[in-house]
Amino acid sequence: MKICKTKDYNDMSRKAANLISAQIIMKPNCVLGLATGSSPIGAYKQLIEWYNKGDLDFSEVTSVNLDEYRGLTHDNDQSYYYFMQENLFKHVNIDASRTFVPDGTIEDAQEACSAYNEIIRSVGGIDLQLLGLGRNGHIGFNEPADTFEKETHCVNLTQSTIDANARFFASREEVPTQAYTMGIKNIMSAKKILVVASGEDKADAVQKSFFGPITPHVPGSVLQLHPDVVLVADEAALSKCSL
Ligand code: F6R
Repeated sequence: MKICKTKDYNDMSRKAANLISAQIIMKPNCVLGLATGSSPIGAYKQLIEWYNKGDLDFSEVTSVNLDEYRGLTHDNDQSYYYFMQENLFKHVNIDASRTFVPDGTIEDAQEACSAYNEIIRSVGGIDLQLLGLGRNGHIGFNEPADTFEKETHCVNLTQSTIDANARFFASREEVPTQAYTMGIKNIMSAKKILVVASGEDKADAVQKSFFGPITPHVPGSVLQLHPDVVLVADEAALSKCSL
C-alpha cells in the first residue's frame, strides 16, 4: 500500500487526477471503476481541464460505477447516473455506450445485480478503481456488516450513511434507504485501486481502514489485502495515522 499525503482537498484532487490520467495514457482503452460523492469531484474537474487542453482522450475508455440508489431514475438530480453526467461524462469525449452505472430503476434487485455483474465481466475487469471512503469505513455502499458481500447486491443504507448523504437532498426523508452496489470481490478484482479521502471527518475511517484489523465491520480494511492500492489523502484525513 502506498500513501500519498497532500496539503488539502485541491492538492489531493490534482494528485489523484494525475494517477487516473497516467492510467488513461498508458492504456487508452482501459476500464475505469468510478465513484460519486464529494471526494472525487475535484479530480474529475482536473481531468476535464486536462481534456480541454488536449492532454487527455477518453474516446476508448470504458467506465463502470460503483453504485446507485435503488429507485432513482436517470433524470433525478440525486441519482449517481445524473452525477456522473454532470461531473464528468458530458464534459469529455467518453463514449456514452461504454459508461455503466447500476440501473436503479430495475425494481427486481436480483435482476439488477446480476445484470451489473455481467456488465463488469463483459468489460473484462477493472484496470483502475477509484474509491471514496465513508465515515463508517464503507467502500461503494458496502456498509459495516458481519460478512463481506462478494458481488453486486442490494443494501440497506445505514443511518450514518443516510445522515451523511442527507446534505444532498431537500430533506432527510427523501434520502433513499437502499442502493445497488458492487461487492467487495468486484472491487478487489480491480488491478489497481486509488482511494481519495479528505477532511477530519474521514480521519477515523482512514486510520481504521488502513491500519486497523481487517474486518467486515470496517469494509475499507479489506483494501489492506490488495496488492496495488494507493491512498491519496490530505493532512486532515491522515491526522489519526502515525506515518
Ligand atoms: C460513492 C460511493 C461512496 C462514497 C463515500 C464517500 O459512489 O461509493 O462509498 O465514496 O460515501 O463519500 P464522500 O466522498 O461524499 O465523502
